[in-house]
Amino acid sequence: MAPRKGRRPATTRSPDPCPERPVMSIRQLPEHLANQIAAGEVVERPASVVKELVENSLDAGADRIAIEVEQGGGKLIRVRDNGQGMDPEEAPRALAPHATSKLRDVADLSRIATLGFRGEALPSIASVSRLTLTTREAGGEEGVKVAPGADGLEVVPSAHPPGTTVEVRDLFHNTPARRKFLRTEKTELSHVVEAVRRAALGTMDTAFILSHNGRSHFQLPAVETWEDAERRVGRLLGDQFAENAVHLVQDSGDGLRLSGWVILPTAARGQRDQQYFFVNRRPVRDRLLGHAVAEAYRDVLYQDRHPAYALFLEVDPAEVDVNVHPTKHEVRFSDGRRIHAFIRHAVEEALGAVRPGEPAARREQAERAPAPGSAGGPGGRPDGSGSPPAGGQARLGLREASAAYAELYGSAALAPAVEEAEAGPGEGPESPGSADEGGAPALGHALAQIHGAFILAQTEDGVVLVDQHAAHERITYERLKRAYQEEGVERQALLVPVAVNLAERQMVLLEEEAGTLERLGFQVDPAGPRRALIREAPAMLAEADLGLLLERTLDTLARYGSGAPVAEAANEVLAEMGCHGSVRVNRRLTREEMDALLRDLERTERGGQCNHGRPTYVHLSMQALDRFFLRGE
Ligand SMILES: Nc1ncnc2c1ncn2[C@@H]1O[C@H](COP(=O)(O)OP(=O)(O)OP(=O)(O)O)[C@@H](O)[C@H]1O
Ligand SMILES: [Mg+2]
Repeated sequence: MAPRKGRRPATTRSPDPCPERPVMSIRQLPEHLANQIAAGEVVERPASVVKELVENSLDAGADRIAIEVEQGGGKLIRVRDNGQGMDPEEAPRALAPHATSKLRDVADLSRIATLGFRGEALPSIASVSRLTLTTREAGGEEGVKVAPGADGLEVVPSAHPPGTTVEVRDLFHNTPARRKFLRTEKTELSHVVEAVRRAALGTMDTAFILSHNGRSHFQLPAVETWEDAERRVGRLLGDQFAENAVHLVQDSGDGLRLSGWVILPTAARGQRDQQYFFVNRRPVRDRLLGHAVAEAYRDVLYQDRHPAYALFLEVDPAEVDVNVHPTKHEVRFSDGRRIHAFIRHAVEEALGAVRPGEPAARREQAERAPAPGSAGGPGGRPDGSGSPPAGGQARLGLREASAAYAELYGSAALAPAVEEAEAGPGEGPESPGSADEGGAPALGHALAQIHGAFILAQTEDGVVLVDQHAAHERITYERLKRAYQEEGVERQALLVPVAVNLAERQMVLLEEEAGTLERLGFQVDPAGPRRALIREAPAMLAEADLGLLLERTLDTLARYGSGAPVAEAANEVLAEMGCHGSVRVNRRLTREEMDALLRDLERTERGGQCNHGRPTYVHLSMQALDRFFLRGE
C-alpha cells in the first residue's frame, strides 16, 4: 500500500538517537586525553593518588615517607620520600605515558618484584590535577622541579634533599564529573588513611607519617623488631585486634612463606573490615586467598562472624601474575590450589595450636624469623638483617602469662583460703608447679561447679570459669575428628540394642550410608519399614541419647546428599555428634571429673572455642581482679 501523502512512511527502524552525529574518522587521541582516560581507571579518589605515590616511594627504596593531605586530599596531597630520587635529565620522563624504570621487556612482566610497573600512574594523575614533582638523586648535586605547563613540561633547578616530593593539587579540577563523585572531607580522609594503613602494614621497615590539614594523624617509626611490628599492628588495627591476635609463621619448604596475625575465633568481627592480605608486600583483595583463610576458620567461627587478619605471603614473583587489573589489587597464581592449601593449612594450624595459657612457643620460632614487611621479611630489602633479637615481648596482650603478681606477693599469695576449705583432707589439688610437664596447669585446678554449668578453677595467676558443655563439646569433637580421619570412630556394642523409629527417607539413608555410619561409630540394622536397631554406637558418646544422635546424624548426612561425605559433611556430622554427646548443663561433676576436663581442654586443638565458635572459658588474672577491686590503686 502506498503511503498517504503528507505523512512519513512507517518504518521498522528505530529513530537515530543522535541525528546530528557527524561521521567520525579514526584518529589518534591526544596524549592528555589518553592520560585522562587511563586516570579514569587508576584515580578514583584522593586515596588512589596516595596509594600510587606511596608505592612509587616504596619502589624507590624510601625508608621514610611523609604524606600530607588537605581537605581530604581534594585540595592537596603531598608525598615526600627519602628514596633514591631521579636524575635531573630523567625526571621529566616520569610524567610521560608508558614510561617506567621498572620493566624492560616481556620477560620482566612475568616476574614483577616492584609495586608499580605500568608506567601510567604519574601521567594519569597529572592529567586530572595540578602536579609538581621535585626530586634529587641520592649523591646528585642539585634537585630539579618538573611541572606540566601550558606549553609542555616546565623543568627548573630546585633545592631538595635526596629523595622525591610529589605534590598534587586540586584533584579533578578539570574533570567535573569525577569531582562530583567525591564524598565529604571526612569520608575521603578515611579512604586516605586506609590506603596508608595498607602500605604501612605491607612494608614495616619504612616510617610513615600522615597529617591532615596540618595536624598529625599518625607517626609510625620504622619497624626493627617483632615487638615494633606488633606495636605497629596494634596502632593500625586497634587494641581489640592486637590483644586477640595469634601470631603465625609457616614455611612450606618449597618457596612459600606465610606470616602475620590472625584473630582468635572468639574475637571474630561482625564485618569483613579487617582482612589484610599482602602478596610480596602488595596489598591484594583476592577471592582465593580470602577463601583459604575463611576455610581455616570454618570449624571455629560463631554464626555470622568474620575473621580478621593481617597476613603476608611470600612467593616467587614468577608464580604470580600481578598484571590483572589497572589498580593492581588483584593477582593470579600459576598454581592457585597449592597456594590455597598452604594458606588454609597454615592458618588452621595456628588456630589449632592455641591452647589455654600456652607459652608462646610458636612465637619463639617467629622471633628467629624476619618480621613481616621488614628487611629480610616479605618484600624487605635483601641487605637488611630483619631478625629481631630473641626474647622480645611475648604474644600480643591476651594470655600474657603474668608472673608479676607472684613476684609482688610471693607464691603463697596464690593459695587462698578457699582452696583449703574446699579440698577435703588428703584430696587437695596438686600444688601449682607439681602438675604435669613441670609447670602449673594453664587452666588450674577445679574448685567448684557453679549452677551445674560452669567450672571455677584457680590458676597460677588468677581464676578461670569454664563452660563445661562448650568445653566438653570441643574436646569430643576434636577427638571424633581425629578418630574419623584415622581408622574411624571406635564403636561399642550395646548390651541391649536401642530401637528407633525413623522416617522412610532416613531408612533409605541407613542403607545408602551404611559404610559412612560405621566409620562414624554406628552399626544399625533395619527392623521393619520404619524401625531400626542401634547395635553399636560411638564409644566416646556413651552418655548421649543414641536415638536422637542417630537421627541428627542422618539429617546432616541427608543435607549433604548421598555418597561418601566430603570432609565438611563429616565434620558437621561429627560436630553435631560432639554437641549431643557432651556433658549437659546440670550434670554434677566430681572434682576429678572437672580436673580431667580441664586437662583435656588444655591439650585440645582449638580448645578456646566450642564447635559453634563460642568461648569455652574466661580467664581473670589477679591483676584484673586487683584492678576491678581497686586494690593497690
Ligand atoms: N618517588 C619516586 N622516587 C623515584 N622515582 C620515582 C618516584 N616516583 C616515580 N618515579 C619514577 O617515575 C616512573 C614513573 O612512575 P609511575 O608511577 O608513573 O609508573 P610506575 O611506577 O613505573 O608504574 P605504575 O603506573 O604501575 O605505578 C617510575 O617508573 C620511576 O622510575
Ligand atoms: Mg607507580
